[in-house]
Amino acid sequence: MRIALGSDHGGYHLKQVIKKYLEEQGLAYKDFGTFDAASVDYPEYAYQVAAAVAAGEYERGILCCGTGIGVCIVANKVPGIRAALCHDTFSARAAREHNDANILTLGERVIGPGLAVDIVATWLAAEFAGGRHTRRVEKIKAIESKK
Ligand code: RB5
Repeated sequence: MRIALGSDHGGYHLKQVIKKYLEEQGLAYKDFGTFDAASVDYPEYAYQVAAAVAAGEYERGILCCGTGIGVCIVANKVPGIRAALCHDTFSARAAREHNDANILTLGERVIGPGLAVDIVATWLAAEFAGGRHTRRVEKIKAIESKK
């Protein structure tokens, strides 16, 4: 699985923790930045990751900012992206099984690194359940195509 990562300064340290976890798991990723804790604008990084996932260059994306909210809003502006802000493992699993979320967003200022890694692991392991959820995701796509 190819994973695209991105953050602003508010999520930079959490992204570093996630990178270490992915490396330990032998999972391939590309970091789209930011590359230090200097203040930047989250739309720049969230858009790069979302565009790469939407283009099919990466199967999944993970975005971090201070709250996880800004990067989630940006990512969901890109057609084909279903980004989910998850700060618990129940939501992370459901985001895959029910919503087929292809981007996970996290807030460094909201949760600790241990829980964040558990959420990432849960989200990466879970698969879309299909069935009735397929119909609902198709309806999301239909709404998106009206843009
Ligand atoms: C940066 O201060 C902060 O606003 C950003 O990381 C994020 O939380 C935005 O949603």
